[in-house]
Amino acid sequence: MAEERTGREDGGGVATAQETLSVTDNRTGESYDVEITDGTVKAMDFRQIKVSEDDFGLMTYDPAFTNTASCRSSVCFIDGEAGVLEYRGYPIDQLCERSSYLEVAYLLIYGELPTQEQLDEWVFEITHHTYVHENIKKFVEGFRYDAHPMGMLLATVGALSTFYPDAKKIDDETERHMAAVRLIAKIPTLAAFAYRHNLGLPYVYPDNDLSYPGNFLSMMFKMTEVQYKPDPRLEKALDVLWILHADHEQNCSTNAVRGVGSSQVDPYSAVAAGVAALYGPLHGGANEQVLRMLERIETVDNIPGFLEGVKKRDEKLMGFGHRVYKNYDPRARIIKEHVDAVFEVTGRNPKLDIAVELEKRALDDDFFVERKLYPNVDFYSGLIYEALNLPPDMFTVMFAIPRTSGWIAQWREMQEDAETKIARPRQIYTGERERDYVPIGEREKLTEKPSAETNLIDPAKG
Ligand code: CMC
Repeated sequence: MAEERTGREDGGGVATAQETLSVTDNRTGESYDVEITDGTVKAMDFRQIKVSEDDFGLMTYDPAFTNTASCRSSVCFIDGEAGVLEYRGYPIDQLCERSSYLEVAYLLIYGELPTQEQLDEWVFEITHHTYVHENIKKFVEGFRYDAHPMGMLLATVGALSTFYPDAKKIDDETERHMAAVRLIAKIPTLAAFAYRHNLGLPYVYPDNDLSYPGNFLSMMFKMTEVQYKPDPRLEKALDVLWILHADHEQNCSTNAVRGVGSSQVDPYSAVAAGVAALYGPLHGGANEQVLRMLERIETVDNIPGFLEGVKKRDEKLMGFGHRVYKNYDPRARIIKEHVDAVFEVTGRNPKLDIAVELEKRALDDDFFVERKLYPNVDFYSGLIYEALNLPPDMFTVMFAIPRTSGWIAQWREMQEDAETKIARPRQIYTGERERDYVPIGEREKLTEKPSAETNLIDPAKG
């Protein structure tokens, strides 16, 4: 089981290090060698550790995957200590400076930067698949006027699977490619339809003459003009924001896409699972909380008092801290550079002064320095979305649009991985066993269930 490999130079000779872990089971006194590969041990290698022949074997327990690698991946690299983020090995700052979101989507999905010819073809394909079936429009019309746009996006992405039944052929490369094109092309259309539905405005059809972000701005904001002309500074800022949000290795929604996709369901349904996971406030919703926090702080003068409250743990400094980054989130630095360009177009948001001063004071404060708390991607993105006149409900939708390419890249990688099996964790059972069925007349009332509201007469609530 042990694999030997050349280790460090020691004196004149070359030492060999055994890449194994020795484990002694103190219940039995037995010792085992477990192979270490890429800094990990395989959970299945512990199954051999038993107290008796009929013992199931030792399992590992890691409910939130806090120390478990669930796959091998070559899509996205993060070094949280150093504040490094790379897609397919390319540093995020170079991609933001020199690439476009669609080029980055190609890179994530196909592993290499496209040639000019490949890029032109890719952009053409995406541009010519932005329309959705008219029935999807009717489907969106069926939602209540105040339906949350993420709920509408979740439902419509899932519904796409019914329009493309051939996507079920997940081993067919052409079908996989078409699903990637359609999902990336149509998700801005679905997002914009949801936004316009909330406002009671007619939906705006895609405009093939515009760029990917320009077309999105048109579908969102076009009114009576014959052709909407997006401001290039806004197009650029949106494009950069979308590059920054395109992938982030095994986060909650990507894990959902992989988990659901491992059942070999079609990619539309797997991506709908990703949208559902992103909808949750612990994942996609922090930038909205940053805005609410800045609103409450109100003026720069109130910052010291606010920070004292954070240190007393009355509340959190939203948009600060990260599970992986223990350094400045590289995405936050890049977003900050684009804030001014957006404000040139939209007018300065006074909350920016509070945000900049808040960051400065926090980074000078031992409480935040000691805990390695730095601004994360959400600290400045909400300010840009607000400047674009987007309601907070739309912020998570703005995250889902670019993350679609990351979800697809990770889904494809999973399908191509020979180690992929249906994701099916084990459990530690904590319930009763082998009880005899009790006839209804002999039961004692042992549980309380919440009683249904009986006075509901709102037919919409049912
Ligand atoms: N404000 C004040 N204290 C904080 C904050 C904060 N934002 N974040 C962490 N801490 C403190 C925390 O109280 C703890 O202190 P102590 O050791 O004295 O108990 C210490 O720092 C370590 O924090 P943790 O809770 O162990 O860190 P975590 O890795 O479990 O949590 C986090 C990461 C992002 C959930 C957390 O930093 C947080 O809640 N931040 C605010 C919400 C936010 O901005 N979320 C967006 C994350 S970026 C989105 C993305 O990448 O998808």
